[in-house]
Amino acid sequence: MGADDDDKTIVEKVMGNKMVMIGVIAMAEVFGIIGLALLIHFSREYYGGYEWGDMKDGLLFTYHPLFMYLGMIFFFGNAIMSFRVMNMLPIPRVVAKCIHGGLHVCTMLFISLGLVAINRVKKNAWMGTNNMYSTHSYWGAVTIAIYVLQFSGGLISFLIPVLSDRIKRTFLPIHRFLGAGIFLMALITVLIGLTKMASTVGQVTGKSFSSYPEWGTVHIFTSCFIGLFVLTVMVVIINSGFKTPPKTTQEK
Ligand code: HEM
Repeated sequence: MGADDDDKTIVEKVMGNKMVMIGVIAMAEVFGIIGLALLIHFSREYYGGYEWGDMKDGLLFTYHPLFMYLGMIFFFGNAIMSFRVMNMLPIPRVVAKCIHGGLHVCTMLFISLGLVAINRVKKNAWMGTNNMYSTHSYWGAVTIAIYVLQFSGGLISFLIPVLSDRIKRTFLPIHRFLGAGIFLMALITVLIGLTKMASTVGQVTGKSFSSYPEWGTVHIFTSCFIGLFVLTVMVVIINSGFKTPPKTTQEK
């Protein structure tokens, strides 16, 4: 055991263990998939289901939470965890960057679809015709705006290799901080969105939240599993184990 290992705290030692890290990442994926399944179940059983073509009432609306969850939570979470996973495997750095970028492209795609869905719903006068009238919509819009800036910054620094290593080193901590911040903002937006959905589900089922209906329990578990996914991803990204080391001057 080297001197460096002796300096580490117990938490750093545990989180630096490959098996522990694999376990935490696997746990995150399980939480994320259960959150997705519950969201789909909630939308299908208590919110009228999914129907893109017809634009009737809530049938198109349900695509908004689905696509937003897939984009801003599931793919985004996997994108920000991806380097930790790939640092454990013998994957060339350029391939790792392409996988990270690919997951962000999926995020962008689902965000766009989620926004198209909510805008078609608004045009159809369901939930009122006004755009941008709630806390949820403002948190959502600001979160997406910062995400798009972050995405563009990442793309520029990846696509323009002429940027000096010094600039990249300066940019990396900001990129990491913003990534975690945007992810937490997305969770807040989702939770406000789900609460808003709960306030209207009574119109569909005829049963209010205060009567402890079955959908209330499904709703609570949906938000809990989505929250657990986000928190587990945060555990993976804030600990120093398997963090990508700063690029040395010899590396391409
Ligand atoms: C489970 C997740 C979500 C649910 C249940 C949900 C629910 C809703 C509801 C009920 C509306 C219509 C009422 C309103 O304008 O507030 C809405 C609109 C909106 N949502 Fe979400 N949402 C979810 C996720 C997200 C996420 C993650 C974002 C972005 C980060 C987002 C961004 C928006 C925006 C920008 C609008 C306003 C659209 C407009 O006014 O034209 N939503 N959402």
